[in-house]
Amino acid sequence: MIEIRNLWKRFGKLQVLAGMDLDVKSGETLVVLGPSGVGKSVLLKHIIGILPPDAGSIKIDDVEITTLSNTEILKTVKNMGMLFQGAALFDSMNIEENTAFYLKQHGDRQTGKHYSQKEIKEKVTTALEMVGLEGTQKKMPSELSGGMRKRAGLARLIVYRPQLLLYDEPTTGLDPITAMQINELIVKTQEELKGTSIVVTHDIVSALYVGDRLALFRDGKIAHIADPDRFLEINDPLIVFLRKMISEDPRSFKSQRISNKEFKL
Ligand SMILES: Nc1ncnc2c1ncn2[C@@H]1O[C@H](COP(=O)(O)OP(=O)(O)O)[C@@H](O)[C@H]1O
Ligand SMILES: [Mg+2]
Repeated sequence: MIEIRNLWKRFGKLQVLAGMDLDVKSGETLVVLGPSGVGKSVLLKHIIGILPPDAGSIKIDDVEITTLSNTEILKTVKNMGMLFQGAALFDSMNIEENTAFYLKQHGDRQTGKHYSQKEIKEKVTTALEMVGLEGTQKKMPSELSGGMRKRAGLARLIVYRPQLLLYDEPTTGLDPITAMQINELIVKTQEELKGTSIVVTHDIVSALYVGDRLALFRDGKIAHIADPDRFLEINDPLIVFLRKMISEDPRSFKSQRISNKEFKL
């Protein structure tokens, strides 16, 4: 479904993408793991067409998106939804208005038909129920906790049923229990929409919970990509570290020497 080939992007002296190749299969949830600042958000922004690459190719369902005009990109992007890191709700709109936003803008994703107020209300209610936020329609984003805002951001995507979902660090900054609720919602959303998902994260617990395949982002490229069991067996210092982190008491690391570079994740 998505085919990224030899993708390059630099900001000044900083080479963020350095010949990246990556395939995302239709219907899978692919997790891209990498430490902060490595370029995960930059990669997602290329896929949704917000950032142009310096060189390389991105094909989505055989359409080369790097050379499309802005209007053509908008057509492609209609099939996508991105959950931004901070959930990116509109502060001045209540949860109902936030959730209805894309639905009002795009109408029906396939036919372009506009929905009536009543239809929008019903779809919003269903989406909010799905993420466990029923009854919050009239609340403002500032009245919700971080986890609830993430869920509202997800409802806003679910409601127009995009076929490609991009999640930018969906569990970052959440407590472990709320993070697990978000992980469950990512799986549930995937089952409901039967689309394709890309999750970028530095959270190995989340990666293993939601991912059909895991990829490691390093030095502007994908260093490894495999299904979860094979990924955990890869003999790479960072993956060895991650593997230990999930199977051992974190305190046991105090007695081990791990370089700063490896510890950053
Ligand atoms: N629009 C931009 N202009 C300049 N530098 C940028 C821009 N976007 C990202 N960067 C830089 O690219 C690097 C990767 O950023 P980012 O993709 O946000 O990292 P991650 O999401 O993995 O934490 C960072 O050093 C960041 O400062
Ligand atoms: Mg980021």
